[in-house]
Amino acid sequence: MLSSAMATFEEIVPRELKPELYALDGISRASVEAHYKLYQGYVSKRNEILKKLESVELGAANQVYSDLRALKVDLTFAVGGIKNHELYFEHLGGAGGEPDGAVAALIKRDFGSFAAWRADLKATGLAARGWAWTAYDWDEGRLFNYIGDTQNTFPIWNATPLVALDVYEHAYFLDFQTDRGSYIDAFFANLDWAVVNDWVSRYGITAR
Ligand SMILES: [Fe+2]
Repeated sequence: MLSSAMATFEEIVPRELKPELYALDGISRASVEAHYKLYQGYVSKRNEILKKLESVELGAANQVYSDLRALKVDLTFAVGGIKNHELYFEHLGGAGGEPDGAVAALIKRDFGSFAAWRADLKATGLAARGWAWTAYDWDEGRLFNYIGDTQNTFPIWNATPLVALDVYEHAYFLDFQTDRGSYIDAFFANLDWAVVNDWVSRYGITAR
């Protein structure tokens, strides 16, 4: 019987930041660097946790406390921090405004208008303690703005995030102090809709 069963994993390295991220409108270089430093930490911890899981004692698994439990719970925090920040970095650096193309059609169909989508995501970001996401639920066949109190709460299965709004304090406090709403407005002003449309196309999401 196996006492430790993780297949070997591959280490990953942080992605480079694109230069546009250092010249955002209203969001400072210092704020972007704060995200990046945290992101590097998530990558490092993801690698460390998966390494430890290679030799964890499966026979000691316990729901109150066990190494397996601790590692697997915190792995979701590390991986969530990676995935969310990679979305965040990739779809900022644009000119904001209203989207066109497939994502515009999806937003209009599922929210009624761009303004309604924007108002709903802003409110969701104000109600969240960590993240807000626009994601496409493949089972329901529609977009929805989801709330996250941390990067590992509360995504649902079989949904693909298309907009990832970081509302942790490190995202806005340097530039806006406690005025999170103004930060969210700046986030919208820097969105690169071409990137989001590229994801929609790559995933094969269509407004049926
Ligand atoms: Fe962040």
